[in-house]
Amino acid sequence: MSARDIPWCVPDLSGREVEYVTDAVASGHIGPAGPYLERLERQVAEVSDAACAVTTCCGTDALHLALLLAGVRPGDEVVVPALTFVATANAVRHLGAYPVVVDIDPEYWQIDPCAVAAFLTGCEQRRGRVINPASGRRVAAVVPVHLLGHPAPLAELDELAQDSGIAVVADGAQGLGATYRGCGIASGGVLTSLSFNANKIITTGGGGAVLTGDPDLAARARYLGAQAASGTYQHDEVGHNWRMSNVSAAIGCAQVERLADLVAAKRRIHDAYSEALVNVPGVSQPGCAPWATTTRWFAPLAVDPATAGIDAAELRAHLASKGVSAGPVWTPLHQTRAHAGCAPAPCPVAERLGRAVLQLPCSPGMTEDEVSRTINAVRTGVRDAARGSAFRGIRARASVLRP
Ligand SMILES: Cc1ncc(COP(=O)(O)O)c(C=O)c1O
Repeated sequence: MSARDIPWCVPDLSGREVEYVTDAVASGHIGPAGPYLERLERQVAEVSDAACAVTTCCGTDALHLALLLAGVRPGDEVVVPALTFVATANAVRHLGAYPVVVDIDPEYWQIDPCAVAAFLTGCEQRRGRVINPASGRRVAAVVPVHLLGHPAPLAELDELAQDSGIAVVADGAQGLGATYRGCGIASGGVLTSLSFNANKIITTGGGGAVLTGDPDLAARARYLGAQAASGTYQHDEVGHNWRMSNVSAAIGCAQVERLADLVAAKRRIHDAYSEALVNVPGVSQPGCAPWATTTRWFAPLAVDPATAGIDAAELRAHLASKGVSAGPVWTPLHQTRAHAGCAPAPCPVAERLGRAVLQLPCSPGMTEDEVSRTINAVRTGVRDAARGSAFRGIRARASVLRP
């Protein structure tokens, strides 16, 4: 009998999820109000060092709402990193605004403050507004993404944003549980969005939240997310239904009480990979900044084909042949058809990593045996590539996986 296939990233629902969901259903509170919602918001705010959390249906909605709260308006531009999940840019577009991408740094893979500074230096101040002379549009905000569970360099971005008068809104979809300079990711009051999608560090099935240090902004988020109701069927603005259900929040409550364990499991997996793969030629992982702790939400591996003798798509195909599911990395935003043309300057780091990275299995419930099988599969992939001969079939299969 062959060993079971190793999935890429599946949630660990072995806590009190069923108990809490059963309780929520039995109570009749299945809509967007109820005790689990209040509890989830309190707990998520606490672990992030935010004064307030407002839950939403998903992380894309949370970012959309956070950008709206920050004053982004149709026709504005918003600076985002070139390498991130497409939802970062989609949230900007859903507001009628335009993402402008800048490169990421090669060490931690976070938005590069020097690239943001270079873009802002080319902009002009006109009547208190920052204008991109190439497009004539106002630049309203920058969105650091806590990519792969590692916090973005918030202080540098905050300084740049304050100097030029634009807002900072963090996309923390991947970052819950990380710390920045010893505090939670929303300390200092930075508006931050979270995602609780199924593969996130904690899940509610689907869901998200806006974190803020400002109770007035939290109140406005609740108002806009509940159809901007100002009285019984009276509405002064156009709102939306962005609210999470109490049933989803019940799953989230069971998850967030195990957040420390889930983060520890992710770090264990990462540490085992880095220890075992350190001497494998041509493969590397992103570092962790001295001012950060990362959750290692995903387990990316960059593959340099010139040294490893194999590229990321070929290694993924080899892993698949051993029953190990590894994922691809996101296509840099400016290379997607949806957001083509949004890079005012070259983004060589994002483009290189967009080709070079695969995501190793990282489910928090992975067994030691599964981690070892994954490590062996990476090692044999690179070893076979060095030998050359065993590799012809894998090359053919990899052409299907290559973007
Ligand atoms: C960086 C980033 N932003 C936003 C989102 C969107 O979250 P959701 O899928 O909950 O809408 C995700 C989800 O993967 C993400 O990774």
